[in-house]
Amino acid sequence: MGLPEKHDLQKPEKVEGTFSYEDFGFRSARIKKSVNESPTVKSFYLENPLRKDPLPGQFVMVWVPGGEEIPISISGVEDDALRISVANKGKTTAKLHALEKGGTVMIRGPFGTHFHLNESSYLLVGGGYGVAPLIYAASFISKSGTECTYLVGAKTASELLFLEEARRLGMDVRIITEDGSAGRKGMVTDVLDKLLEEKRFDLVLTCGPERMMYEVVRKALGRGIRVQASLERYMKCGFGICGSCVLDPTGLRVCTDGPVFDGEVLLSTDFGRKKRDASGSVVEI
Ligand SMILES: Cc1cc2nc3c(=O)[nH]c(=O)nc-3n(C[C@H](O)[C@H](O)[C@H](O)COP(=O)(O)OP(=O)(O)OC[C@H]3O[C@@H](n4cnc5c(N)ncnc54)[C@H](O)[C@@H]3O)c2cc1C
Ligand code: FES
Repeated sequence: MGLPEKHDLQKPEKVEGTFSYEDFGFRSARIKKSVNESPTVKSFYLENPLRKDPLPGQFVMVWVPGGEEIPISISGVEDDALRISVANKGKTTAKLHALEKGGTVMIRGPFGTHFHLNESSYLLVGGGYGVAPLIYAASFISKSGTECTYLVGAKTASELLFLEEARRLGMDVRIITEDGSAGRKGMVTDVLDKLLEEKRFDLVLTCGPERMMYEVVRKALGRGIRVQASLERYMKCGFGICGSCVLDPTGLRVCTDGPVFDGEVLLSTDFGRKKRDASGSVVEI
């Protein structure tokens, strides 16, 4: 038997007893629009092929042609489009950044736990592209007319994300940059104590670099305020079987038991101190 024709490779015939991409939950998603949010982060609006809409904090596994399959949070759902906001960090995200309107990726999901949004005042604390799931949460919070502060940090002004969107959603926006090019100079954790003293919050939501989230969790819980954090760990399967995203020593898996966890749960794990790398080895954060 010779090699299959080109069209056979693109559209394989389903043979009885075999599986197609769809059988494994993959859905083809066409890019409706893309927007450069910063020099490193690009948002993609995908035609929504999922059977149910993701909740804030949930993620999808995105398989990019010629690249690998990577976990990405949902940063918004509007006009029947899913928005993902992706930092250009390595080989797969670079391939994704090269795609434009009309390009196609495969997605599976939505996966994981979500933020629980039934309080009357919130503080959202985000660093870098970690604000992606927070701005989606903000869209839900704003619909309920609840008071919300959006504290966002980045290395420099051009990397601050979704400021206008947060203002449009009625958030009290506070900015901090490491080089002082916008807002106060420093890290979000430098202003957190003052903010927690100044205003009353029922719930803190956080996403960003893990060391930052560790400080946010400690400071909020130290004042008796509940906190939920969305974690990023190395993921391979995305649905609980490979163990690459496990939190030691509890065995909790970020892909299925998370990515959103209550702060108290995280403090009983290696959160903020150690994680597993691509080979499964435990490394310092
Ligand atoms: C639940 C979750 C939600 C995420 N949401 C977003 C998001 O909204 N926007 C965004 O830009 N990024 C997000 N990420 C991170 C994103 O998955 C990685 O940056 C991406 O996988 C890097 O792929 P790469 O091939 O471009 O980089 P690589 O060249 O493979 O590596 C670059 C860096 O990314 C890390 N990385 C690589 N593969 C993975 C993986 N499968 N899981 C976790 N880390 C990995 C590597 O350890 C390395 O530090 C999320 C990760 C998780 C776990
Ligand atoms: S990514 Fe495989 S168990 Fe979580």
